[in-house]
Amino acid sequence: MSIDIKLVEVGPRDGLQNEARTLPVEVRVALIDKLTAAGLPVIEAGSFVAPKWVPKMADTASVMRQIKRAVGVSYPVLVPNLRGFEDAVAAGAPEVAVFPAASETFSQRNLNCSIDESFARFEPVCEAAREQGIKVRGYISCVLGCPYEGAVDFGTVADVAARLLRLGCYEVSLGDTIGVGTPNKARAMLDAVTAVVPVGRLAGHFHDTYGQAVANIYAVLDRGVTVLDTSVAGLGGCPYAAGASGNVATEDVVYLLDGMGLETGVEMEKLLDASGYIMSQLGRSTVSKASLALASKRAARAEPSPLTPLPKGEGKERS
Ligand code: HMG
Ligand code: MG
Repeated sequence: MSIDIKLVEVGPRDGLQNEARTLPVEVRVALIDKLTAAGLPVIEAGSFVAPKWVPKMADTASVMRQIKRAVGVSYPVLVPNLRGFEDAVAAGAPEVAVFPAASETFSQRNLNCSIDESFARFEPVCEAAREQGIKVRGYISCVLGCPYEGAVDFGTVADVAARLLRLGCYEVSLGDTIGVGTPNKARAMLDAVTAVVPVGRLAGHFHDTYGQAVANIYAVLDRGVTVLDTSVAGLGGCPYAAGASGNVATEDVVYLLDGMGLETGVEMEKLLDASGYIMSQLGRSTVSKASLALASKRAARAEPSPLTPLPKGEGKERS
């Protein structure tokens, strides 16, 4: 099957890093296995960051060791420094991601260092990754706004993207960390970045705080972006971006792309299984509109209303 749009499922990392409930390793593993079964080609499995900074991602090494890896599926993890990289490789990570910001204040809050200092930490990571044949993805946080500084200069976003490519990242994911973007702004930011980086090396990462993520995705698809980060059930947020809600829900994006005739390779029914599973573990309901609509259709199919005539032969008592 040929894929038109690659979805990078970030729920097990971006989603769970900010949940109030700490999930046991076996639940994180089961979620990743269900997402693998649903056909996601990339599933971000966790982070090798300081557990006192992001406690929900502790035990990512155990998660990495227990997941059932499918051939052709990548399971990247976030690493903030060489220590994280070495721990990730020891746990069998096939790919890592580094994550600078386009805002100095966010960089300080998220990584406890400036943007330049963060690059000084990523350099040895990328060098070691090159030597060991490990792929590195780059994220940029705050591309459409910063929770501390407000507006962010798109020229800075473009500079950070170009620096990530020079370091050896194969792809740069543009993160609207706090979900403040709107479509025209998303396009303007992308135009600034594609002036220095080819669009084929970029991904969109939209949080949905203001309900604009699907509209922003539509806007960047129109500009030729073919890689999108999404989070099952719309889980997520960032521990250093108070009030920001989760990433756009994978179910909503699969529904959108399906309607546009764009293939993702993801099976919606199995994705709904993964979504239902994680929400039952978290003890709350999904925020995905597509998921809610499809789940109620599913329920209606399973339990016909008393006013719906039963198909012939059904409902008869067995003798
Ligand atoms: P620091 O405190 O400046 O670092 O944190 P340090 O070197 O002084 O070390 C402090 C402690 O952390 C020490 O332990 C180290 O051993 C330990 P102690 O002696 O105090 O017990 N440490 C580590 N432990 C495990 N793994 C490591 C590691 N490194 C140091 N790799 C640091 C600097 C970068 C470590 C810290 O700031 C950190 O871990 N930050 C991570 C923040 C994070 O994960 N944020 C969320 C992900 S980013 C995001 O969500 C945005 C994104 O989705 C895109 C978007 O939406 O825009 C990607
Ligand atoms: Mg994020």
